Amino acid sequence: MKLTPARRVAGRIRVPGDKSISHRAALIASVAKGPSRLENFSTSHDCASTLGCIEQLGAAITHSSGAVLVEPPGNLCTPISALDCGNSGSTMRMLTGLLAGKSITATLIGDESLSSRPMNRIIDPLKMMGVSVDSNGGKPPITVHGTPSLNPVTYLLPIASAQVKSCILFAGITATGRTTVIEPTTTRDHTERLFAAFGVPVRTAKQDTGATEISIDGPARFHGGDMMIPSDISSAAYFVAASLLLPDSELIIENVSLNPTRTAFVSLLREWGGFVEFADERLEWNEPMGTLRVCNRDTLGASSQGRQIASSMIPALIDELPLIAVVGSQLRGGLEIRGAGELRVKETDRIKATVNNLRAMGAEVEEYDDGLAEYGPTQLRGGLIESYGDHRIAMAFSIAALVAEGTSEIVNASCVNVSFPEFFQLLHSVVEP
Ligand code: S3P
Repeated sequence: MKLTPARRVAGRIRVPGDKSISHRAALIASVAKGPSRLENFSTSHDCASTLGCIEQLGAAITHSSGAVLVEPPGNLCTPISALDCGNSGSTMRMLTGLLAGKSITATLIGDESLSSRPMNRIIDPLKMMGVSVDSNGGKPPITVHGTPSLNPVTYLLPIASAQVKSCILFAGITATGRTTVIEPTTTRDHTERLFAAFGVPVRTAKQDTGATEISIDGPARFHGGDMMIPSDISSAAYFVAASLLLPDSELIIENVSLNPTRTAFVSLLREWGGFVEFADERLEWNEPMGTLRVCNRDTLGASSQGRQIASSMIPALIDELPLIAVVGSQLRGGLEIRGAGELRVKETDRIKATVNNLRAMGAEVEEYDDGLAEYGPTQLRGGLIESYGDHRIAMAFSIAALVAEGTSEIVNASCVNVSFPEFFQLLHSVVEP
């Protein structure tokens, strides 16, 4: 994919349905009582992997004008072949939790990237619940030997991970008694919201330490429903960043998730002087959504106060960090990101990928084990940009290409399909050269 510098972006757009919410809604629908209709379901290949897996487990899936209809089987059935999670860590981690309490043995596999990602983070708590899970030294493929007699647990999350939290909560549905996850740092709360919306109440309580206790009482059963899935704010983020970096831009993004556990990127850009407004805010199926209006008033980065992303902010910004690094390279005073070691075990090592690409474009960057520091503003140079097969790297550096001098080429750009197949088409529709 070749990209040339842009003058501004302008228009009114919609981005596809939220990936995190779509995964959860599909998994819930596959074991609910009654069918579900999931409107604005994510068009991502990741969510297609989730649908493929639940289909193999006996759910009937139909696509009908932007919605996905899920007809659950009476009981999930043993799949005849391995469940292919593709590139999707969310699919593998949450589906393993869902299967833990079923009388099913299933093997879950993934592509080369997923096959190198850590799974002990879910295997350890599931073992505490009495489930046996085999793996390849803590990595996929994993085989879950489900059992209907799961023990409820109280589990303190050692890593701030919504996927791990959700895996345990999905397993807790079938355990008899109260399963509690203690989360020292808040992570995205879609599982909690969707469980409640589909009929399984979730209790949350704050501890004195500031940690949150999230509990469900099992066994419990979801009911099916008709849900409107908000659009993905992590996909919208690339367009928000482009608008705030290119003078005179003005963009409206409709029907976006405004879940407070997902809007930290917008809050950060506002703190840095960017103008982003929320409008038409509403709650749909327990998930906040609304319209984003972004205006470039040439105020982003007006102050050069030491910009640091603290460790406590990392979980709320986790998917936006490569993009934040791109934005940081354009700001007076630069930016430091620390405490982000989790980035090294995403779809690729996102610290290395970000540092390498920024350097290739002429930025001065230091790499740390848990982050990076960069000195801005830098006039980036276009050139060959390596995506490392990682959708978020490809998209973050497409935005870098818009503010660079000269033409850029993103290698293996089709990896954007993992979360946002429409990305380049939509970008071209709002960019003015
Ligand atoms: C996700 C949680 C995050 C995020 C991923 C999606 C989810 O992962 O990076 O893209 O849907 O729960 P971790 O919870 O492992 O950090």
